[in-house]
Amino acid sequence: MNAGDTLLFVAVPYICIAVFVVGHYWRYRYDKFGWTTRSSQLYERRLLRLGSPLFHFGILFVFLGHVGGLLIPESWTKAVGISESAYHAAAASLGILAGFCTLTGAAILIYRRRTVGPVFSATTRNDKAMYVLLIGTILLGLGTTVIGNLTGHPHDYRLTVSPWFRSIFYFHPDTALILRAPIGFKLHVLAAFGLFAFWPFSRLVHVFSAPLGYLTRPYIVYRSRDQRLGNRAPRRGWERVG
Ligand code: HEM
Repeated sequence: MNAGDTLLFVAVPYICIAVFVVGHYWRYRYDKFGWTTRSSQLYERRLLRLGSPLFHFGILFVFLGHVGGLLIPESWTKAVGISESAYHAAAASLGILAGFCTLTGAAILIYRRRTVGPVFSATTRNDKAMYVLLIGTILLGLGTTVIGNLTGHPHDYRLTVSPWFRSIFYFHPDTALILRAPIGFKLHVLAAFGLFAFWPFSRLVHVFSAPLGYLTRPYIVYRSRDQRLGNRAPRRGWERVG
């Protein structure tokens, strides 16, 4: 194992994870009110209504597939009687379907950004950089998976990429494992870590904003401008402004 491999598959992951965690803390402390998708629904709805659910449901299933494929060791699924070929057939078909939905949704959203004037004007350089990292990661993951399956010799990533990924979190990174994976998977994980490092500084922070407050807040939030609010403590949603 040479210094380059250690840099790419030990240092880069740890640096990107640290930037991801500290970056979110920093963004929340200093830009709490900029924690938003910067929605463009006001400018265009028709394409958004098609592209957005395709992309978001697609990526949700891609995410769930990654949780299963990366975190659950092959020995566990074998122990409950699921053979590698059965696991692979299910994972590859569902994963490729989810990946294509994600990519089609993203293509519609990017087409909309480029062709609808006000949406294009609202697109920043930061957004464009984020799209490059996001689409690059998806293309590399999907491309490597599809090509592997087309050749009839799909790579068993649960013996290489997955244990390497877990070893990072045990603080005992096993670089030799990821070095056995095809180049497409190596580039895919590096692009993904690049995306994670950029994440806190982009619109992607909206992923971590569950609208739980909606469950308990009043339908319309009223705020009193009066100095005196009486003796009782204000009810939720009725706090004074300023
Ligand atoms: C370091 C984090 C990541 C690792 C270790 C990783 C690893 C993998 C592996 C092993 C596969 C093959 C799955 C299969 O053949 O069924 C894969 C596929 C894929 N990955 Fe990732 N990935 C990571 C992050 C991401 C991210 C952030 C995205 C999206 C933005 C993504 C999108 C995809 C897509 C679309 C596929 C194609 C098939 C599928 O949907 O599972 N990956 N990835």
